[in-house]
Amino acid sequence: MAKTLVLYYSATNTTKNIAEQVAQKLNADIAEIHAAQPYTAADLNWHDSKSRTSIEQHQHDSRVAVKDDLPDIQDYDNIVIGHPIWWAIPPRMIADVIDKLDLNGKNLAMFATSGGSTYDRSQSFIERSVRENNYDTQVNQGAILNSPRQIDAWIDRLNFN
Ligand SMILES: Cc1cc2nc3c(=O)[nH]c(=O)nc-3n(C[C@H](O)[C@H](O)[C@H](O)COP(=O)(O)O)c2cc1C
Repeated sequence: MAKTLVLYYSATNTTKNIAEQVAQKLNADIAEIHAAQPYTAADLNWHDSKSRTSIEQHQHDSRVAVKDDLPDIQDYDNIVIGHPIWWAIPPRMIADVIDKLDLNGKNLAMFATSGGSTYDRSQSFIERSVRENNYDTQVNQGAILNSPRQIDAWIDRLNFN
């Protein structure tokens, strides 16, 4: 049977809550992504143009390190990455996650929670990261899942094994 892993990052548990429901519906394993350097409440303040996230997210080529505790994904066919939207894109550390996982031959799908942003710019961000690694990966269309009611329709559209 095809195996699915839900990998999520969540700073304030909104994405975590959805990720747990997604994992349950997909009969998937679940693991949390951690930042190498955890984000404090001050780091997350988007009203402060000098906060850590304001600086990182606006700097196009900034690299943010993920903690070195990512699971081994060798046995999984399908990988789901869940994340919040920060300044219209995923936390930049998600690019480091994609760099560090060998996504060759995997089906990849993404979802996010947001305050209202769509998934468009996040889709481009993820597709660029996959392309930069030259992975042979099928990238599904990601979605914003701000309500548990949105999960089923998104799952129905996934092209998973
Ligand atoms: C630094 C920062 C930037 C954000 N930027 C956006 C944004 O551009 N668009 C949006 O819709 N929501 C934005 N949000 C809101 C989050 O996407 C939303 O609250 C999300 O559900 C948080 O998920 P979490 O609790 O799993 O961390 C931002 C939140 C933070 C902390």
